[in-house]
Amino acid sequence: MKAHIITLPGDGIGPEVTAEAVRVLDVIGSKFGHEFKFCERLMGGCSIDKYGTALTDEVLADCKSSDAVLLGAVGGPKWDDPNAKVRPEQGLLGLRKGLGVFANLRPVKPHPALLDSSPLKPERLKGVDVIVVRELTGGLYFGQPKCRERVNGHTRAVDTLEYHDYEIQRVMELAFRLAINRRKKVTSVDKANVLETSRLWRSIATAAAADHSDVTLEHMLVDTASMRLVTSPASFDVLVTENMFGDILTDEASVLAGSMGMLPSASIGDGGPGLYEPIHGSAPDIAGKSIANPIGTILSAAMLLRHSLQLEQEAAAIESAVDAAITDGCRTADLGGAMSTTQMAEEIIARL
Ligand code: IPM
Ligand code: MG
Repeated sequence: MKAHIITLPGDGIGPEVTAEAVRVLDVIGSKFGHEFKFCERLMGGCSIDKYGTALTDEVLADCKSSDAVLLGAVGGPKWDDPNAKVRPEQGLLGLRKGLGVFANLRPVKPHPALLDSSPLKPERLKGVDVIVVRELTGGLYFGQPKCRERVNGHTRAVDTLEYHDYEIQRVMELAFRLAINRRKKVTSVDKANVLETSRLWRSIATAAAADHSDVTLEHMLVDTASMRLVTSPASFDVLVTENMFGDILTDEASVLAGSMGMLPSASIGDGGPGLYEPIHGSAPDIAGKSIANPIGTILSAAMLLRHSLQLEQEAAAIESAVDAAITDGCRTADLGGAMSTTQMAEEIIARL
């Protein structure tokens, strides 16, 4: 097959890890007889420096007309001024909204050889295999009004938490469909004891469960969920939640896998190009040193093959190669080892 992939390496360690994922995809292409064409574009702080905006209309249009988008990371201290009018993160949010990728899938399945890298006791991590489905284009991140203003001599800031029924329905449906091919359990996380949006969320989850009698639904408040993720993480299968809760819970869940550097994500919508990125940030403190773990991005490339190009066998090949490299003791600094970004990728490629 032929596929046109836009790469957005971004800032910090983004370019280093994206380059390795592209190498892995190139090897997959030649091994399985596919033609992947890559076009690199600027997004994030690097785009602000060049164009004064984190995401130009041209880059968004290029992404929309591609088959899939592979992203490194955006942001860094250079663009962190809280009073700045333009911020790297605006590029990421604009891209998610512009592509309509309403569901962000973040799988967390600790590798048995890495159980000691997690701050949790190894026995707690046994059997952990959770996929978080985070709603990605609604909620507090996008609701209007969003503003800061002077009122009666005080500064007032407002963010708005808003959800429409259809925004919840589509992400809920996706969560239930994922659960069918897994352990058939959906945990819907909300704050229904306080928030009106959460009460709507809960009623839509309940209605979705009625359409999927083979899947068990449990409702959980977000504060309880944050505790259960560390006390009994193996009890989760598919966890579905709104944008902001999902942002927070997935950073928490990432420590189960030993290092944030291990975790991929896929953002998908209704059939358009998907957006694939590691869940870690731009890590400016280690940028340019070639010590970043490329696995999160390489596994995101595997998710790209699976979800956007329907290349399941190829995706599984990458996942097995990563698995084997970890089993064989390959470790970057975040995992307590000394391998460089490129060496880790080479070890993975050698096992493809
Ligand atoms: C993430 C990140 C982003 C988010 C930031 C960079 C805007 O934390 O993808 O989890 O909050 O969604
Ligand atoms: Mg986050």
